[in-house]
Amino acid sequence: MAKTIKDINLKDKRIIMRVDFNVPMKDGKVQDDTRICAALPSIKYILDQEPRSLVLMSHLGTPEKDAKKAKEKAEKSGLAFDKEAYIESKHRMKPVAAYLSKLLNKPVDFAASCMDQLEKVNALPQGGVMMLENTRFHKEETSKDLAEQEVLAKELAKYGDVFVNDAFGTAHRSHASNSTITKFVDNKVAGFLMEKEIKYLEPVSSNPDKPMTAIIGGAKVSSKIGVLHNLLKNASAIIIGGGMSYTFLKVQGYKIGKSLFEADYLEVAEKLLKDAEKAGVKIILPVDHICSEEFSPEAKAIKLDEKDIPDNLMGMDIGEKTIALCKEEILKSKTIVWNGPMGVFEFEAFSNGTAEIAKMVAEATAKGAISVVGGGDSVAAVNKFDLSDKMSHVSTGGGASLEFLEGKELPGIACLDK
Ligand code: 3PG
Ligand code: MG
Repeated sequence: MAKTIKDINLKDKRIIMRVDFNVPMKDGKVQDDTRICAALPSIKYILDQEPRSLVLMSHLGTPEKDAKKAKEKAEKSGLAFDKEAYIESKHRMKPVAAYLSKLLNKPVDFAASCMDQLEKVNALPQGGVMMLENTRFHKEETSKDLAEQEVLAKELAKYGDVFVNDAFGTAHRSHASNSTITKFVDNKVAGFLMEKEIKYLEPVSSNPDKPMTAIIGGAKVSSKIGVLHNLLKNASAIIIGGGMSYTFLKVQGYKIGKSLFEADYLEVAEKLLKDAEKAGVKIILPVDHICSEEFSPEAKAIKLDEKDIPDNLMGMDIGEKTIALCKEEILKSKTIVWNGPMGVFEFEAFSNGTAEIAKMVAEATAKGAISVVGGGDSVAAVNKFDLSDKMSHVSTGGGASLEFLEGKELPGIACLDK
């Protein structure tokens, strides 16, 4: 485990801290403050240690890429696109700094660039806090050329004697502000959020309390195959639901109608089923479905009490029999890891499977199991069903938790002091 802010003396030190304040923004307003609140324990602890100063930095979206996409979308609909206004509404860190200031009940200074701020940092009052503008306004932040990244990393490193990384959500990126910076600072430690994420995700990936059940869903086999493979090492059972389950059912020779299907992943899915058999891991796939004729929020739900889906229908959610199978497995588990919804839970008529799974995981947790929820959609699901505080841990990382569960070493963690 990496060293944390508890392991070093912070008094009178200048702290430079990477957070993941990549929060949804609309019209220059924070739409969801989960990630900001998740960094508060570290920020408050640091301030209690009476540091000389605390400089915070984060990315917020990917300005150039996001603007390009938004422009294409606008043009398709024949609408005008104002890039400056778009970036103003989505990518500026100033409103985030103001939001944080309210939460801390303390002034948070704002620097309109990440470069050339040394004077401003050193002029902060004793214990003062400053937030830098979006790191991704500098092309060096994400540059593939390491020498270029180092230009920004060196500059950022000047603002602190100690580097703290609490940006778990970004830990799978190898960028100037979250990993390359560590080349230029003497002390580099994890914040409490980073520590908590590692504490819960690490055992799932390496040495969980057994039996462990993994619940893996979502639209695509392609994005989850690495996780599925790594889970074969420790899981007793893997429940596969959501859009990706139909590719597996197809491999097994079932009809899947108009359901989601990845032809390029048939062989991969087939191999996974074989590897699971060899490893003695039980794979649970849907045995019944909630279907519809079309993919739409108004689509009528059609119950189908069998595995085969007729040509005119598509699978949208798991059915009652499948839910019962999952329940048996989940309730006898000591560890549960969940990544990806069981169906199109955003549409009311197809949300039952995911809601029932969320309730079961909450029930198992109340009985003493460790439950870890990772990945954007499953986190959105537990929030929607108001069950996030009934889980042992809900990760703040999407891609980061996925790569962690794939067993990969994350650059934003590997670079910290041991
Ligand atoms: C996220 O939201 O997944 C993290 O903040 C990382 O953002 P990124 O995918 O744009 O690198
Ligand atoms: Mg992302």
